[in-house]
Amino acid sequence: MKLQDKVAVITGGARGLGQAMAELFAAEGAKVVAADMGDMGYSCEGVEGYALNVTDVEGCQALVNYVVEKYGKIDILVNNAGITRDALTRKMTDDMWNLVIDVNLKGVFNLTRFVGPVMQEQGQGSIINISSVVGEFGNIGQANYAATKAGVIGMTKSWAKEFAMKGAQVRVNAISPGYTMTDILKTVPQELLDKFAKQTMLGRLAQPEEIAKAALFLASDDASYITGHNLSVNGGMRL
Ligand SMILES: NC(=O)c1ccc[n+]([C@@H]2O[C@H](COP(=O)([O-])OP(=O)(O)OC[C@H]3O[C@@H](n4cnc5c(N)ncnc54)[C@H](O)[C@@H]3O)[C@@H](O)[C@H]2O)c1
Repeated sequence: MKLQDKVAVITGGARGLGQAMAELFAAEGAKVVAADMGDMGYSCEGVEGYALNVTDVEGCQALVNYVVEKYGKIDILVNNAGITRDALTRKMTDDMWNLVIDVNLKGVFNLTRFVGPVMQEQGQGSIINISSVVGEFGNIGQANYAATKAGVIGMTKSWAKEFAMKGAQVRVNAISPGYTMTDILKTVPQELLDKFAKQTMLGRLAQPEEIAKAALFLASDDASYITGHNLSVNGGMRL
């Protein structure tokens, strides 16, 4: 049990990568709060759903208060909630730009601004921000999404320094998954998914559980000397 008695908050935990992480963390002994604006797509012992839109600052503060009151601490935060609104730049509307920035970039800030200080006071914690292969390499039609995911890596490195001030063992890392079989890929044509699979060294796309295992590693004490790192989990993909 790698997360025995740990308390974890996972945004976007109602389905997809968030679900895979929530189920794995719970199986490893954690109490998990899966915070999501959508309905929970599953039920699992040790995982509790919590209604949250990460763009709502007061809602983020309320979630942190709720978890600290109920469990007395927050050991792990996974900033996983994310969306796409893809279009070539000349066709991208202000709404598409603003919504993706609001959820994927500001949403990560909204929750971490409250969780980081809690972890500093505890003297320990692990924050994992879900970036993307697109944040590392860019992609056609995803300037808004790439901007947020590259920004997430910058925030990760900044917070790794900031939250470890005064000797707190607060670690902050990013994971950049490659293309992974979840609902977020529903709008991507199959030919393009096949092309992306061929662009990996392993010749296939990822399953959510493969990303969750990387998150478990970074969340656990096995990664006790790893911080400020961006872990690419992409089957050797280059876009
Ligand atoms: N699947 C991939 O190929 C892939 C690759 C790289 C990175 N990612 C990233 O992984 C993360 C999870 O994606 P996924 O593939 O599981 O997608 P998904 O669409 O299956 O799940 C995303 C979850 O986030 C929730 N969510 C969306 N907006 C929210 C908001 N404002 N507040 C709270 N919850 C919100 C949704 O309700 C959903 O449950 C995202 O940040 C995504 O950008 C995914």
